[in-house]
Amino acid sequence: MNTPPSAPSPHVLRLLAAARRRTDAVIIPLLERVGPAPARVLAYQWGMWDAQGRPAPGSGTGGGKAVRAALVFACARATGRPDTDPLVAAGAAAVEMLHTLSLLHDDVMDGDELRRGRPAAWRVFGPDAVEDAVRALTPHAVGLFFDTLPEPAGLLGSPLPRDPATLRAPARATAVLGDALVRLAQGQALDLALERDLSPGVAATLRVHADKTGSLFACACTLGAAPAAASDLASFGEHLGIAFQITDDILGIWGDPVVTGKPTGADLSARKKSHPVAVALTPAPDRCDEDVPRQLLGLYALPRPWTPSERTQAGRLLDRSGARAVSQAAAHGHARAALTALARACPPHEEAGEDLRALTAFVIDRPR
Ligand code: IPE
Ligand code: IPE
Ligand code: MG
Ligand code: MG
Repeated sequence: MNTPPSAPSPHVLRLLAAARRRTDAVIIPLLERVGPAPARVLAYQWGMWDAQGRPAPGSGTGGGKAVRAALVFACARATGRPDTDPLVAAGAAAVEMLHTLSLLHDDVMDGDELRRGRPAAWRVFGPDAVEDAVRALTPHAVGLFFDTLPEPAGLLGSPLPRDPATLRAPARATAVLGDALVRLAQGQALDLALERDLSPGVAATLRVHADKTGSLFACACTLGAAPAAASDLASFGEHLGIAFQITDDILGIWGDPVVTGKPTGADLSARKKSHPVAVALTPAPDRCDEDVPRQLLGLYALPRPWTPSERTQAGRLLDRSGARAVSQAAAHGHARAALTALARACPPHEEAGEDLRALTAFVIDRPR
């Protein structure tokens, strides 16, 4: 059965808004360090400025939902770590920055023209300006953890801190972020490669999802968690990220672009092997007529862009394939696996994990 998404609960909306506020407090001052041209692109991407560089409060969907930042703070609280720890706030800001930078690139890679309810940054400023902005901000995202030290980190000619052990925690956090960045880039590369692969199968799609999205969710949870719970919460985040991406794939076909702020059907035209497409291309006589995957494969095999009527036909075949329900069930399965990992760190009856359970419910049942 295809269930339409529910509105987020007021509790989840509060968690997201608080995460956005606290993350912006770290990110906004950084925009002053990158130079005027990158700052214009980045402030646009965060929904702070319009295309002309004028303040644009509340435009589109702003700087995004801040799900990853909310996970950092909630993981800290759930594992008894004060969420006011500067390393926690740095972690939340760093993952949101990496996420937003990856979206700047992603829209160029996917050729998508709409993001957060507005023309994608590359459509406004051009791909080169976007590339410059990503290059200008990335070192600041990666260096954020060292900014939390009470004294200089001994980099770039400044004196070494009196206690070198203070370098350990920021160095570890930087490595966690760096590993996620590598996996994210690998996932993005495979995502593009699969566009040209006729029917790589659901397992290949899930590998992309784990690398491009599971990686950053796991990173967010690791950066928030107290050390003893880090590995269980990394596993929680990895499964939650996969559930999030499958849900994003569903919204990319059947979502409302006015609500998602992203184009609907672009993944289909680009021949992405999103989860529903990977399912629909796989014959399953118990789910749908064998004609459906056969006809769909015929369309995917065409060595030229689809005509509008072929595009409509692909959409209809997808509807008939039963893939939407299969993908929804897969997202629910990964959310359940996430909750099992969470229960090892915070037993289900404990209040500590409540925010993480609420965010899990939101991830698989959201309108955008
Ligand atoms: C979009 O992520 C990219 C995916 C990994 C699917 P979000 O849906 O979290 O994007 P924003 O930040 O809220 O715009
Ligand atoms: C984006 O994946 C994931 C990234 C790591 C950037 P998608 O390409 O599926 O995300 P949207 O739908 O454009 O936000
Ligand atoms: Mg995309
Ligand atoms: Mg993409």
